[in-house]
Amino acid sequence: MAPVCLLFKLIFHGMGQTSASSMEQTRDEKGLHIVMFPWLAMGHLIPFFHFSKILAQKGHQISFISTPRNLERIPKIPPKLSHNIKLVSLPFPKVESLPEHAESSMDIPYQKAQFLKIAFDLLEPLLLTFLQTSTPRVDWIIFDYASHWIPSLASRLGVSTAYFSLFTAATQAFLGPPSLLLNAGQVTRSAAEDYCRVPEWVPFKSDIVYRLHEVTKYTEGAAGNESGTSDTIRFLASIDGCDLVLFRTSYEFEPEWFDLVCELYQKPVIPIGVLPPSLKNDDEFDENWDFIKKWLDEQQANSVVYVALGSEAVLSQIELSELALGLERSGLPFFWVIRKSITESAQLPNGFLERIKGQGVVNIGWVPQVRILSHSSIGGFLTHCGWNSAIEGLTFGRVLIFFPVMNDQGLNVRLLSGKKLGVEIPRNVKDGSFTSDSVAESLKLAMVSEEGEALRENAREMKVVFGNKSKNDHYIDASINHLVKMRKPYVI
Ligand SMILES: *[C@@H]1O[C@H](CO)[C@@H](O)[C@H](O)[C@H]1NC(C)=O
Ligand SMILES: *[C@@H]1O[C@H](CO)[C@@H](O)[C@H](O)[C@H]1NC(C)=O
Repeated sequence: MAPVCLLFKLIFHGMGQTSASSMEQTRDEKGLHIVMFPWLAMGHLIPFFHFSKILAQKGHQISFISTPRNLERIPKIPPKLSHNIKLVSLPFPKVESLPEHAESSMDIPYQKAQFLKIAFDLLEPLLLTFLQTSTPRVDWIIFDYASHWIPSLASRLGVSTAYFSLFTAATQAFLGPPSLLLNAGQVTRSAAEDYCRVPEWVPFKSDIVYRLHEVTKYTEGAAGNESGTSDTIRFLASIDGCDLVLFRTSYEFEPEWFDLVCELYQKPVIPIGVLPPSLKNDDEFDENWDFIKKWLDEQQANSVVYVALGSEAVLSQIELSELALGLERSGLPFFWVIRKSITESAQLPNGFLERIKGQGVVNIGWVPQVRILSHSSIGGFLTHCGWNSAIEGLTFGRVLIFFPVMNDQGLNVRLLSGKKLGVEIPRNVKDGSFTSDSVAESLKLAMVSEEGEALRENAREMKVVFGNKSKNDHYIDASINHLVKMRKPYVI
């Protein structure tokens, strides 16, 4: 395995010129004290927490910082790690346009995401106070794309910063090099079509681009700009200012994209592996599980399609109906998880629940997804293809049926369908419309057709690529080595 694309000469650059002279705050010389500061979304909190547990297991101190309701939602800290992980709760800043108690992206419609970013930006002084007063002193902040202000805050205190990308190297490369910040006015691609072309900084052949409908519904215009800082700027400034970039990916999976981000960023870039989900801890314990397991136990091996579009996706009435009818028409057994808020604005087709009795199950609200995906009766996963979900499906070798909705999902689908790991449900390029027949055909192609056997085989092989424990351990150890080597001397 090619270890990493590491720019070794840069790693030691700028270190050791100042001698450490500490004040009242002490430093723990054995372990690192690491602050984890994820964006306010479940899909970010969970992998940051997962990484925290791994670092804590290796003897490092973690301060996991978020707001009260978000900290309530993360899994319990395993008792044996409770000494090493502290949850640090910062009060959620008041922002008028946000509904009361809304603290994460799943609490608000997509159009309000910018207001959540206003609140997030207001956490800066609170985080500063934490860093100034924390004992032992903080060595590293591992941060997410939205808090682009972290590097300048941290460097004033001599704290190192790692931007932790929960996105693939292909997605990050698509966003571009931080040098784009130099002409800030032109950073944002102005027309929707600009997102449907391979960017000029990609030197090889690629088909990783958005489809028009994926852009027009979810461009920065639609997402609003009320926070005054676009997501593109947040991404680029995070990368530009940090000391190190960590990726939740493996080099083997996307070597050419990994090499490209190294080139584009000109700083140490390290994959930490995919953080494959584990069933050992009871993170996902849930009283629903007995019922779900009973149903799954009754199905044949590899026969069931698990259907889930993530915690943020919004479906229109037509989209929900076509998806439902497509599942029904496929004739395949399915387990469909629908986000509660979708059922508040759209309804399943008349008589649907009656007709599918014996074929499938519809579950409104949260389920233990990893447990379900790990069950032997699951064969495929109809997914929005957020990187979390894709990793979860592929760790268990499930063939994917792609239905991207927003954010990086379209780019993930292009990457994974290029690797022949699934089937994308065909949609009208301009308006994103699709038919129940195309849903049914895609499902049958992926799940049972002879043509689809190669896809299923490729997906099964991913179990080894994503789930290889020794390889993942190796990535983690290598990344910790770099955190230790790169920690900065303190400045007063
Ligand atoms: C936000 O968007 C509006 C309308 O598209 C535009 O007029 C305004 O200049 C933008 N503001 C910022 C800070 O980009
Ligand atoms: C897992 O990865 C290691 C390298 O860390 C490799 O030697 C081994 O062959 C891999 N296992 C499988 C089953 O591919």
